[in-house]
Amino acid sequence: MRASRDSLRIAHGAGALLLALLMSVLFARAPLAVEPDPESPDPAARGAYVLRAAGCATCHTDVAKGGAFLAGGRMLTSPWGAIAAPNITPDPETGIGGWSDEDLVRALRDGKSPEGRTYYPAFPYTAYSGMRREDMLDLKAYLDTVEPVAAPNKPHELRFPFSVRLFLHPWRWLFFDPSPEEPGSAPDERLARGRYLVETLGHCSECHTPRNMLGALKPGLHLAGSRYGPGGLSVPNITPDVETGIGSWSEIDLAFFLRTGFTPYGDDVQGEMREAIDDGLRHLTQADLEAMAAYLKALQAIRNPVSPTPSPPPAFSSGGDW
Ligand code: HEC
Ligand code: HEC
Repeated sequence: MRASRDSLRIAHGAGALLLALLMSVLFARAPLAVEPDPESPDPAARGAYVLRAAGCATCHTDVAKGGAFLAGGRMLTSPWGAIAAPNITPDPETGIGGWSDEDLVRALRDGKSPEGRTYYPAFPYTAYSGMRREDMLDLKAYLDTVEPVAAPNKPHELRFPFSVRLFLHPWRWLFFDPSPEEPGSAPDERLARGRYLVETLGHCSECHTPRNMLGALKPGLHLAGSRYGPGGLSVPNITPDVETGIGSWSEIDLAFFLRTGFTPYGDDVQGEMREAIDDGLRHLTQADLEAMAAYLKALQAIRNPVSPTPSPPPAFSSGGDW
C-alpha cells in the first residue's frame, strides 16, 4: 500500500514536471501575459510594447536551447569574444527582482549596474541611452509582471584584454556619451517617431552600421551596411541609395518588410533580421512601422556595396570593418 502511494506520488511529480516542461516549450516564444499596447492606460501593457520595439527578448531569451522567456543564457558573438546575456526576469536571486525603477533607468541610460559596474556595449545601451524616461518606467512595470525564473547567469567568454571590465573605461570615454532623452515633440512628428523607433529603441545601427577596430560604430557609414555583422555575416545597406541600399523600396514595401520579413523581391529574410521581426517588430502598430519606413527613406543615401557572400573578418590588426 505504502509503496504504491509513493509511486503514485512519484508519478504525480513526473506528471507535473512534464507539464512544466511542456508549458515552457509552448510559452518560450510568446509568453506575454500582458498584451503589448502603446495606448493602454496600463503601464505594463505599454511596457510590453516598448519591450517589443526595443527587441529585448531576442538577446535575453535563449530560444535555440529552449530557455525561458527573458531568463538569459544566450551567448552573443562580439568582436571581443562571446558575451552571455543575463537573466532579466524578476527572480530575486538570479534575475533583477530586487531592482528599483532607478536601477533600470541607470542600466539603460548609463550602462551601469546598481553596484556601479560598467556593462559591455553588447547590451546596446549606447542606443537605449536616449530612451524616454516614461518608456523606461513602463518597461520596468512590464518586467515586474514576467514569470520569475531561477537561472544563474553564465560567465562571458571574452578574450584578454576585453575580459577585464576596466578596459571599458577608455572605450566609454572615447565612444559613449549618455544621451539626454529624445525630445517628445519635433517639427515633423512622424519622422521624429520613426527616428526614435529606428535609432533609439530599434537599435538598427548595432547591426546595419560597420564598426572600426575598437568595435565603435563608424559615424560616416550610418546604417550603410556592414560586411561583418554580429553573426559574422554581412548586413545590408538600409540607406535610400538606389543601387546599394533600399532606395527602390517604397515606404509601403519597407513597412510590409518590417512586419513580415518579405522583401519586394519575394525573398524571405533569414537569421538575425528574422529574429528581430518575429520577437519584436511584427508586434508594432502599422503607424509605427510606417513612421520607421518614412524615417529610413528620408535618410541621406550612402553608396556602400556590401558583399552578399561574406569572407572571414580581417585580422584584428588590419583595421578592416566589422
Ligand atoms: C543585442 C543584445 C541585447 C539586447 C537587444 C538587450 N540586451 Fe540587455 N544585456 C545584453 C548583454 C550582453 C548584457 C550583459 C552586459 C554585461 O555583462 O556587461 C545585458 C544586460 C542587461 C541588464 C543588466 C542585468 C544585470 O544582471 O546586471 C539589464 C537589466 C538588461 N540587459 C535589460 C535589457 C532591456 C530592458 C532590453 C530592451 C530594452 C535589453 N536588455 C536589450 C544584451 C542585450
Ligand atoms: C541583430 C542584427 C540586426 C538588427 C538589430 C537589425 N537588422 Fe535588419 N538585417 C539584419 C540582417 C543580417 C539582414 C539580412 C538578412 C538576410 O539577408 O536574410 C537584415 C536585413 C534588413 C533589411 C532588408 C534589406 C535588403 O536589402 O534586403 C531591412 C530593410 C532591415 N534589415 C531593416 C532593419 C531595421 C529598420 C532595423 C531596426 C528596427 C533592423 N533592420 C535591425 C540584421 C539586423
